[in-house]
Amino acid sequence: MQAVKSLNHVGIAVKSIDAQREFYEGHLGAVFEGIEDVPSQKVRVAFFRINDVRLELLEPTDPSSTVQAFLDKRGEGLHHLAFTVDDIQSRIKELQESGIRMIDATPRPGAHHMQIAFLHPKSSHGVLTELCQLPCG
Ligand code: CO
Repeated sequence: MQAVKSLNHVGIAVKSIDAQREFYEGHLGAVFEGIEDVPSQKVRVAFFRINDVRLELLEPTDPSSTVQAFLDKRGEGLHHLAFTVDDIQSRIKELQESGIRMIDATPRPGAHHMQIAFLHPKSSHGVLTELCQLPCG
């Protein structure tokens, strides 16, 4: 089993990035890094950096987004933890072979040109868990 490398970011589901920007930037002093559309997840995401930790605010862009379903069910708040891995496809295979269910059996494009894949929350004890591979990682 190959260990994940680091916590890449913390995902937070929000109704409106604009409405929360003041909290993270103005009150916590996080550095706003920009907003990006992620069509594969039907969200737009804003990244805030606090030293080497990133927060990823996810705002649904379509009612069929899984983030919209999350907001409807649980409201705004902590959505997922994302861990950096070296070789995402082989990590997915390794996890599946050890009995972990994946939402994404094949990686898909995420923000920051990363390849991402989500584990099924039933296999990660209720914490939605994302693997991400950096563009040149
Ligand atoms: Co994420």
